[in-house]
Amino acid sequence: MTDVIRLDAVTKRYDETGPAALDQVGLAVGEREAVAVMGPSGSGKSTLLNLIAGLDRPTSGSVTVAGTSLGGLSETALARFRRRNIGMIFQFFNLLDDLTVLDNVLMPARLGGTSLREARSRADELLGYLGIGRHADAYPAHLSGGQRQRVAIARALMNRPPLLLADEPTGAVDTATGRHITDLLIELNRDGQALLLVTHDTRLARACTSRIVRIVDGRVDEAAREAAGDISPDAAEAAR
Ligand SMILES: Nc1ncnc2c1ncn2[C@@H]1O[C@H](COP(=O)(O)OP(=O)(O)OP(=O)(O)O)[C@@H](O)[C@H]1O
Ligand SMILES: [Mg+2]
Repeated sequence: MTDVIRLDAVTKRYDETGPAALDQVGLAVGEREAVAVMGPSGSGKSTLLNLIAGLDRPTSGSVTVAGTSLGGLSETALARFRRRNIGMIFQFFNLLDDLTVLDNVLMPARLGGTSLREARSRADELLGYLGIGRHADAYPAHLSGGQRQRVAIARALMNRPPLLLADEPTGAVDTATGRHITDLLIELNRDGQALLLVTHDTRLARACTSRIVRIVDGRVDEAAREAAGDISPDAAEAAR
């Protein structure tokens, strides 16, 4: 299996004299894999995600995503690479409030130069699949948290990225909505979407990933690497 993510000895220091937010981290995630990253607050989970997304650069070590070493890319090339290869979902959705649902979802494709016609067709398909088609013309402020997160998922999937990154995607929604989001992530991964998920929620991690990577004080704890278990529907249901 080809790796969609590969980190070699990645260290990140936000300030030269301070402690490392990530310390010599190595990690490999396969093409169709779903992996959860868990660890205490401040342990480096979001830092890890930001480095993989190319939103920030490591102090040392290398980050390779979908076969491309990010260290060699200029900021412009990095932005283009991210648009094509990485979908991101955040705890607080990060939607653009001045744009309608449809325009939020169209944005990555339009920035990437996809024709409006093709982008519209993809957006319609995704909004329908995620059950928010009738809210296409609404503004995010008029939607529930769960609906907003589904818009964010549609936006993340717009350019068919080989990798989906999620940072606490159910952290700001109620339990029932969280389950719905979880089910969507499971379904996407079953269809072949690679997923790296940061969460505090063990049930979520077990339900939608095949492997849990624990991170403590910026170090991946190899000893604590564990299988999240069988992700058959029964196992996923039992885990939740
Ligand atoms: N932009 C920044 N500048 C300076 N220090 C930072 C910055 N971002 C994070 N840190 C520090 O790096 C360490 C790891 O932070 P990070 O946000 O990755 O943790 P986390 O595991 O995502 O925590 P949480 O579960 O609370 O979201 C923390 O000590 C944090 O204070
Ligand atoms: Mg975080």
